[in-house]
Amino acid sequence: MEPLLWIPIVIGILLGANIIVYLVQRYLYHKAVPTTIGGILSYIFNWGALLFWPFMEITRPFWVRRKWLEKAGVQEGQVYLEEGFGFGTSPILAARMVGKTGKVYAVENALVAVATLWARAKIRMLKNLSLILSDASDTGLPDESVDIVFINDAFHEFGDKEGTLKELYRVLKPDRLLSIKEDTQRKAMKVVELIGADDLFSLIERDKTFCKFKKNA
Ligand SMILES: C[S@@+](CC[C@H](N)C(=O)[O-])C[C@H]1O[C@@H](n2cnc3c(N)ncnc32)[C@H](O)[C@@H]1O
Repeated sequence: MEPLLWIPIVIGILLGANIIVYLVQRYLYHKAVPTTIGGILSYIFNWGALLFWPFMEITRPFWVRRKWLEKAGVQEGQVYLEEGFGFGTSPILAARMVGKTGKVYAVENALVAVATLWARAKIRMLKNLSLILSDASDTGLPDESVDIVFINDAFHEFGDKEGTLKELYRVLKPDRLLSIKEDTQRKAMKVVELIGADDLFSLIERDKTFCKFKKNA
């Protein structure tokens, strides 16, 4: 076959896979998937994000990410939840930090992200990492089952922020921590304002782009 013919075939397969996953998520599992035209298009075309992976790895190297996780309070034996993990470097580091007695749940609504982390976790033979292809507002985890939540440069993208906060309140154990990092001070300020507007979490630590909250009783 002509080598150039592979390009539309591969693109077609990737788009087709995303359309099928979208329909299954929406109509079979009744998951919270985007319903606006823009949201559906970005969901279906999310394979394009792969182009940004090298950029992410260069601008956010693993040693910097490990510091963020330490700051968030990640420790051995914890149940850790990350939402909007991108290509998955932070959940991989977290899986090592929580160790064999801990557990990592990683939630993403982009198939490309889930497929990438699935492959990366298999290569590293990580047994304590579970992937959840879903909206951030709908993890499907049991009530009060999580010790710590970390969200990096993703909260501002979540369509249903209030629903996501309610979901995180539901799955976190009493008094446990939610850490949100954004890439700019302005976005972090918005997070603090939004979370401060209800009584689910209390701000306990913050700097320019990082904020840490504790679940209220
Ligand atoms: C800027 S990227 C992620 C960065 C990543 N956390 C990191 O540390 O490099 C934002 C991610 O949030 C995901 N995302 C956006 N809206 C989401 C939603 N409603 N539920 C789950 N994930 C979502 C996107 O698919 C994307 O992978």
